Amino acid sequence: MRLSFIIVSLLLWMGGPAYAEENNISEDNAMYKGKKVLVAFFSHTGENYGVGNIEKGNTHIIAEMIAEAAGGDIFEIVPVNAYPKTYNACVEAARKEKDSSARPAVMHDIDVEEYDIVFLGYPNWWGDMPMPVYTFIEKHSWSGKMVVPFCTHEGSGLSRTEKYVADACKGAQVGKGLAVRGTTAQNSREQAKKTVLSWLSGLSF
Ligand SMILES: Cc1cc2nc3c(=O)[nH]c(=O)nc-3n(C[C@H](O)[C@H](O)[C@H](O)COP(=O)(O)O)c2cc1C
Repeated sequence: MRLSFIIVSLLLWMGGPAYAEENNISEDNAMYKGKKVLVAFFSHTGENYGVGNIEKGNTHIIAEMIAEAAGGDIFEIVPVNAYPKTYNACVEAARKEKDSSARPAVMHDIDVEEYDIVFLGYPNWWGDMPMPVYTFIEKHSWSGKMVVPFCTHEGSGLSRTEKYVADACKGAQVGKGLAVRGTTAQNSREQAKKTVLSWLSGLSF
């Protein structure tokens, strides 16, 4: 038991610098040194645009890449009432919620206040964040934090969501956001990973 732990630790240690060098990230993640990082995201599974029926959402895939590279904790924003699994029904439900500025209840929570940097991820839904993301944001205090948005989309990019994040996360500084096509996240993961790592290395905190 103890020996296997030592072997696994050794293997991880040996792989670490190579991974960092290969991906142009400093070995000790200096950018994040002494700072607590959270990656909070919403993502939808089921039938989605251009990717068929998916078991892991596009934004979820990007969130994991960020958490791995930045060494952060990860938290999924999950609505109490799940969205329909068929694409058209989901699009319709999301439109109604956006039009009424709904705040759907979300399951679980995390102490955002404990973190210094929060990467906030969501799919672009109707040029906006899905409404449960606002529910999550409005439960917390954001003063003094660095919030960095990222989204997946199928053509609209971030739309105006960087501004919406800045308006909703009162008192936070908002870093430069990342937009990745959902089809790229789902079907071309190496390409998506390169984009994520290059974006991360361009951020300054
Ligand atoms: C309800 C809904 C609305 C959407 N609205 C847009 C949109 O306005 N612009 C866009 O580029 N993509 C839009 N899309 C596509 C999603 O942003 C894209 O498929 C995304 O990668 C889904 O991420 P997820 O798997 O993490 O939920 C929409 C998808 C859904 C389901």
